[in-house]
Parts: sequence; C-alpha cells; structure tokens
Amino acid sequence: MLRAKDWWREAVVYQIYPRSYADASNDGIGDIPGIRSKVPYLKALGIDAVWLSPHYPSPMLDAGYDVSNYRDVEPIFGKLEDIEGLINDLHGAGLKMFIDIVPNHTSWDHPWFKEAIANPPENDPSVPAKARYADGPWAKYHLLRGQNGGKSEPNNWESVFGGPAWHELNDLTGNPTGWWYLHIFDKSQPDLDWTNEEVRADFRQTLRFWFDKGIDGFRIDVAHGIAKADGYPDCPEITEGDPTSKNPYWDQDALHEIWRDWRKVADEYEPQRVFVAEAWVFPAERNARYLRADELHTGFNFPFLKCPWDTAKLRETIDMSLKANAIAQAPTTWVLENHDVWRAATRYAPVTGSTEEIESNARQMNLGRDGDWKAQRDLEVGLARARANLLTMLALPGSAYIYQGQELGLNEVFDIPADMRQDPSFITTGGKLVGRDGCRVPIPWDNSNDTFGFNAGTPTWLPQPDSWKKLTAAEQESDKNSTLSLTRNALKLRKELSALGGLTEDVADLVWDETDNDLLSFVRPARLGGRAVRCVMNMGKHAQKLTFGGEVLLVSDEHGYDDGLLNPDTTVWLTA
Ligand code: GLC
Repeated sequence: MLRAKDWWREAVVYQIYPRSYADASNDGIGDIPGIRSKVPYLKALGIDAVWLSPHYPSPMLDAGYDVSNYRDVEPIFGKLEDIEGLINDLHGAGLKMFIDIVPNHTSWDHPWFKEAIANPPENDPSVPAKARYADGPWAKYHLLRGQNGGKSEPNNWESVFGGPAWHELNDLTGNPTGWWYLHIFDKSQPDLDWTNEEVRADFRQTLRFWFDKGIDGFRIDVAHGIAKADGYPDCPEITEGDPTSKNPYWDQDALHEIWRDWRKVADEYEPQRVFVAEAWVFPAERNARYLRADELHTGFNFPFLKCPWDTAKLRETIDMSLKANAIAQAPTTWVLENHDVWRAATRYAPVTGSTEEIESNARQMNLGRDGDWKAQRDLEVGLARARANLLTMLALPGSAYIYQGQELGLNEVFDIPADMRQDPSFITTGGKLVGRDGCRVPIPWDNSNDTFGFNAGTPTWLPQPDSWKKLTAAEQESDKNSTLSLTRNALKLRKELSALGGLTEDVADLVWDETDNDLLSFVRPARLGGRAVRCVMNMGKHAQKLTFGGEVLLVSDEHGYDDGLLNPDTTVWLTA
C-alpha cells in the first residue's frame, strides 16, 4: 500500500526498454506481448508502476527515441491493441503505467519533416508545411536556419552524439537547399520549433490520446531542451561545474511555460495523471524549478546517479536535492540506472590498479560520453556497491526508479562487435564513443536456451554475454542472497515499514547520524504508528563496528553484517 497523499510521491517505478525485455514474436527484438507475459514477474517484484521507453513507430535510428508517429505502436513491438492490453494487465495487477514522450525532436521520417523536404523554400514559401519546422520563412515545425549562403553551420552548437548539431538539408533530388536543420541529438532527429502554436496544439492532442487510453503518466524526454535561446547565439565554452543554463539549448527559462501548459492537460483527468521529467539540469535549485506546483510532478535526480562512490559527496548530494525540492514541495525522484548510462555494477567497480577510482568512475556517466571501457574492473566490488546503494536509495524519502536488469545486478556489456552496435553516438563518432548499447542488452530470464529465455532462440539484437548464465531471473529466484531476492525483500519491506517511502508533514523526513567518515547513516523517523528505520552504508575500505543497536531488517549481503560489524560496500537497515 502506498501511503503518501499522492501515489507518485513515493512510488517505485520500473523502467522497461521494449527492445530488450522479452520477445514473444521471436524475431530477436523485444515486444509488447513479451512484456505482457512478464506482468506476474513485475507484480511479484513489488514495484508500483512501470515506465515504458518509446513504443512508437520509428526508423529506430536512436532505438525509438526518433518518433515518426506519436499516436501508434511500432510494428516490431505490436499493435495498438497490444498496448491497450498491457495497460489493462498492469492496472489489473494494481500497477500504474507511464509511457515515454519525445517532444524535443521528431524522426526525419515524421510526416512534418518529409513534407518540409518536399517543399523547398524556392518553390513556395507560403505552403504551411514549410513553416512547421522553423522560425525562418520556410519550414514551420522544425528549426531550420539559412546562413552564409548555405556554406556553413549557423552556429557552433554540438550534437550530444558528437559533431555539429546542424545538418544541411537536401531536397528530394538530393541537392543542397542552403538550409540547415538543428539536431541536438542524431541527424535523424530534427528539433521541433516549440514557439509554434501548431506544434504545441498537436502535442496536447497526443497527451490526451494516451491519457484517454488510461495511461497514468508520461516520462518526458529531454525536458530541459525544448526551448532554444533567442537568436541562436554561439555556445560559450562550458567548463565543468557550470550551470547548464549557460548553454543556449539547455534549461532555457522559456520552456517552463510549456510545462505549465502540459500540467493543465494532465489536471483535466481523474484519477491523477503525472509527469516525470528527464532534465539533466544542475544545480539542484535549477532542477527544482521544473517541479513547481503548476509544472511537472517529478523529475529524475541525476546528481544522485552521477555521484561518485564518496560518502561526503553522496551526503551532500542527497541533502541538496531534498532542500531544493522542499522549496518546490516536490518529492525527490531517486535513480541509479537507465538506458543511457553504464550499469551501476560496472560504474562502481574500481579500475584495477588505478588510484583515480572515484574521478574516473564519475566521468563515465554522462550521456554519450564514456570513461575507459577497456580497463579491467573489479566487478565483484562493483556489484556489492550497486546492491548497497540500491538499499540506500530505497530508504530515502520520495519516489525511486529501477531499470530493467538492475534487480538482477547486471553489468555493462562491452564485448559487442562493432557491426552489431546500434547507438548513434558509436556510429557518428566512428566508435570513439562506445555508446550505450552495453546497458541495453536483452534480459536473461532463464537457462532454457541460447538466448536465456528472452525468446524461442532467435539470436538477440545485441548479444548476451555467457557470464549471464549465472544471473538469469530463474537462477536468482531460488537464491535467497541474489540481487533479485534482495530487491524483492527491499520493496516488500519498503511497503511494510511506514517510516520509508514518502514525505510527511509532521516529522522530519531524514535525520543524519554523525558517524565515521566512511559511513553514510541516516534515520527515517517513525510515522503512522510504525517504527523508525535506520539505514547505514559503509562506503569505506574496512569493516566498521556500529554503535547503534536495533533489530536487523535487511542487509545488502547476507554475510555483510555480523555482531555489529558492517563490511565495506554493504548497507544495513535497522530498527531505530
Ligand atoms: C534522452 C533519451 C536517450 C535519447 C535522447 C534523444 O536522453 O533518454 O536515450 O537518445 O533523449 O531522444
């Protein structure tokens, strides 16, 4: 039972990446019927809601984040009735459902963009389709600029996936038009012009289309990117630690008005419909602006995800997020993994022989950027830390996200042949950036066949490593110390222990213990007649004798806490 006034303030949401969850059609790529077959697994896990990464028709040049029709289902994944069936199944199991929406850009296969290409400016500048992509006289929906007689990019903006963020547009015969379109991501993802009311009206329709089908919320892709600075000024050199608002295409004040407009659409519905923002915005106060009462309900806490394995830094990050969100009266939305970042078990794994462990690990987490993926790592330590931090995350006040496979303790896969890799960041940079395929490898369900039960045996779109034989969900079911059992136990307890989960008005939400530097230790005060709970994580290199008493509720490793002694890379939940 969720206890907070609004379910989304303390919900645990599980992210499903449809290409890689389960493949009922046996074509090597996951699909919606596959996901439906796993609803009992999802129910047993103890989550409250599912977020489905994009399911829309797409040429799949960015794994579905390049949408060509916002009101349908990609045929590889199924049909509209499959998704309706999934909504029903999840609701029947008592789970809510979020879907993704991608408003910053369309695919270049979207009819708006195709229409614009078919009508180059010299033909007829007044044809409506042309105006859809631009603030210029031509296309109207996307952002196009003409400059230097078409000889060079309009400004110095860079694509997140590498190289310039502008691409010269050719007409249908392949001739350059002298116009450039903006693509903050892949060149197959032209950015939309959100100053155009027609674009806004069309997205309102899309929101209602899915709300009417019964979905409970949207995860908003690149929520910090849809407004661009007036006049498209060059990007100043951004130095580390700078607020992203200095970058003319991130976190512009103009975008808040759009989120206020979306909130009004959500507020038309009963029961409550909800947004979660993907906004890579720092510091926490800037991020909290997206969560003001009339804007988006929740937003991922990326500083928490990016925080290196360092007690002081983690405590500061948690504190800052709670303080900033409290001003907006918004819950904090904790997250450690998603489809864009290295798996936690690999990220937290120290590089063998490196003295620079913390810094090098911290750098690996930016979208499209990566650290030394060829380095040898101690994955055993990495997994212990990922499990420990999962327990810490689930004890913090607010909502939390778990990415498919995180509950199995999967590691990042680097051993993927170049010709099988699909991430546009790998392709655009000729392999200089290794990209994100390694966290998108299909889930190992059991040892029934060569694809670990992902399907009936057709090779998977990304190869699964042999080492996953030991990590299948079926193997872990029967092991009471497995990461799957740990996750289930933690989620069950999180529901039973009223001190955990959401925020309350009557008690302090989290009280830090002043302890040894290597311990991250806090108490969630008693509420609703239940007991207080203490969460202690040992982030140091040595076992620590704890001075607190209390009954042991859960330990991230069954041998990790004995007679008051807490092992390194281990978390314990105690009564307080
Ligand atoms: C978001 C998605 C990422 C995608 C990008 C462009 O950051 O999470 O996977 O590549 O947006 O849509």
